[in-house]
Amino acid sequence: MAHTKSYFDRSGNDFGGVPFRSRKAFFDTIATKITKKETKRDEFVIFAPKCHRLKTTDFRVKGVLGNIEKGKVAWQTPSNIALVKYWGKKEPQLPENTSISFTLNNCHTTTEMVFEKKKTEGDFSFEIVFEGEKNEAFKPKIQKFFERIQAYVPFLKEYHFTIFSKNSFPHSSGIASSASGMSALAMCLMSIEKLLSPEISEDYFYKKASFLARLGSGSACRSVKGSLVVWGVHKDIAGSSDLYGVDFNEEIAPVFKNYQDTILLVDKGEKQVSSTVGHNLMFEHAYAQNRFVQAGENISKIKTFLKEGAVKDFIALVESEALTLHAMMLTSHPYFILMKPNTLEIIQRIWDYRTTNDSNVCFTLDAGANVHLLYPENEKEEVQRFIEKELAAFCQNKHFIHDHVGQGAQEITAI
Ligand code: DP6
Repeated sequence: MAHTKSYFDRSGNDFGGVPFRSRKAFFDTIATKITKKETKRDEFVIFAPKCHRLKTTDFRVKGVLGNIEKGKVAWQTPSNIALVKYWGKKEPQLPENTSISFTLNNCHTTTEMVFEKKKTEGDFSFEIVFEGEKNEAFKPKIQKFFERIQAYVPFLKEYHFTIFSKNSFPHSSGIASSASGMSALAMCLMSIEKLLSPEISEDYFYKKASFLARLGSGSACRSVKGSLVVWGVHKDIAGSSDLYGVDFNEEIAPVFKNYQDTILLVDKGEKQVSSTVGHNLMFEHAYAQNRFVQAGENISKIKTFLKEGAVKDFIALVESEALTLHAMMLTSHPYFILMKPNTLEIIQRIWDYRTTNDSNVCFTLDAGANVHLLYPENEKEEVQRFIEKELAAFCQNKHFIHDHVGQGAQEITAI
């Protein structure tokens, strides 16, 4: 489809990447459907995308694939921490709003995929060895992932896969492993595709890896590249897409180039509410539409803050995003509280420390009780002393993990 003009709302959302041929077509279809009551026509702007975006059909394998009997591929892929949060999605795993994250470095998954041609195609055939032991519990998730991506990975049923995987962070630490886990699988599958179809470009390789990872877990599409990745169409981010994450290819002030993230493990238990359930609660949510608009505005703001090195503004935005995410949970039906008393205790102490020491440390949260402390590298020593002295006591078994911004997935020879 020729990409002439697309129509976007104020936050840059194009409602699923559908380009409209005319302003009238846009209002007749999408705008009226989504914002029937409140939207005034002048709230919409016309935006001509600067970059060519790949469409879903671009990810279908077109040519004939080569024939390889067996082999193995391996990748190490990181976790990521969102600054502007993804919360709310629609089928097929498309975000309701744009999000941006720092790619992490030390928290990662390593996965090796050994593949061998089957005699007959049949159904998917795979086994998982997680941290040295055969694992049945992960099978349904991977089966579902394979089902979702099979239209784009035509060789999936032709091979038997043995998947060896391990995480650098402790099992049941409350750190979401789906982002690093799903992106590792996606990278491995793309390496196999590359073996079968060596002519694919590097750009296509990474975009499709992110596209596949997204179908496994939304935030996983931001774990392929580094150091800052944007997922979701946005008018201020060239080339941005709902289908895959893109590098934040804008100017970044030196202070944000090697940002530190210490994860305080407040609650290592299983997630109380799965992300999918949480996302779905945004459907009937009273504040959902305002939240999606706000996230779009926050992307524009954070782009400026990152460029100008405006650390104080960055802090205010990032903390507000974290609290807004939890406010969405507090005000959904059913409602839930994922913070623990120690989460609040830590937040209060961060605020006190920041004021007393004129520090630039701030916090963000995922959909759980753990706290991510973000701070510039030049404050590393003081902040880490503060964590050890004052905050470790509020972590389960005094457990925390020091991490920092990383560069994305890395191919390795074996796990
Ligand atoms: C709160 O990516 O885990 O971490 O797409 O259902 O797998 P699924 O959800 P997931 O949601 C993560 C949400 C978040 C915020 C974020 O990472 O942007």
